[in-house]
Amino acid sequence: MSGVPSAEQVPAHVAIIMDGNGRWAGQRGLPRIEGHRRGVQNVRRLVESLAGSSIRDLTLFAFSVENWQRPPDEVEALMDLLVQFLRRERRQLHKHRIRLRGIGRIHELPARVRELVAEVVAETAGYRDHALNLALNYGSRAEVLDATRAIAADLAAGRLAVPPETWEEYRRYLYTGELADPDLVIRTSGEWRLSNFLLLQGAYAELYFCEVPWPEFGPEHFQAALASYARRERRFGRVRAPVLPVAPAEAV
Ligand code: FPP
Repeated sequence: MSGVPSAEQVPAHVAIIMDGNGRWAGQRGLPRIEGHRRGVQNVRRLVESLAGSSIRDLTLFAFSVENWQRPPDEVEALMDLLVQFLRRERRQLHKHRIRLRGIGRIHELPARVRELVAEVVAETAGYRDHALNLALNYGSRAEVLDATRAIAADLAAGRLAVPPETWEEYRRYLYTGELADPDLVIRTSGEWRLSNFLLLQGAYAELYFCEVPWPEFGPEHFQAALASYARRERRFGRVRAPVLPVAPAEAV
């Protein structure tokens, strides 16, 4: 048996809740932002490894709609880290032909973040093989409200004749639009919940929770998550494919 996983054993879309930065820092007597800073180094490493892999999409929960409730200096520092990350990573995204997408209420972000995201999104829009999707000011419930409002606006303006009748029609109104659903959702740092992240898109995702805090989540931990995924049987509500009985050999 070959040790190389087959195409369907490798998730095409991996989404990550990068949890535990604050606790990691606190346990070391460091300010919380140091944890986030370390977390960004991990993000850079992961993004750069995308190019050589068969993972098409990597979606990272970088800032939630609830994160505005954190102390203002932490929010400010997270915005600064995002700007620094995009400035530094821009060249790598081009080098590895990785497309950037922003998902969430991007228009509510500070102008310096919003404008830089828009620039890099536009510059990389032609890349087809890999994408880094940053969930920024994202929450699934906000996404549903925004989708519903957009549908109502399209109906009122006559751009849509009838409300969406199928999930395929509805899902186009989500921030993720045409993006495929995540196959694997990883959450680090020992919390077993989804925290309003890709709740609809992840309806059939495989979930992987690990104890390691995000600043310590290295390539070996990522490989362990992929190996766990490769062992799962995905049925999407169906039953397992039956093993057909072998026809008895004809008597000669
Ligand atoms: C959760 O840790 C992490 C966040 C809320 C933010 C994640 C952001 C980054 C890693 C930096 C910016 C991202 C990119 C893509 C450049 P926590 O603070 O909730 O940790 P805790 O639960 O231990 O307090």
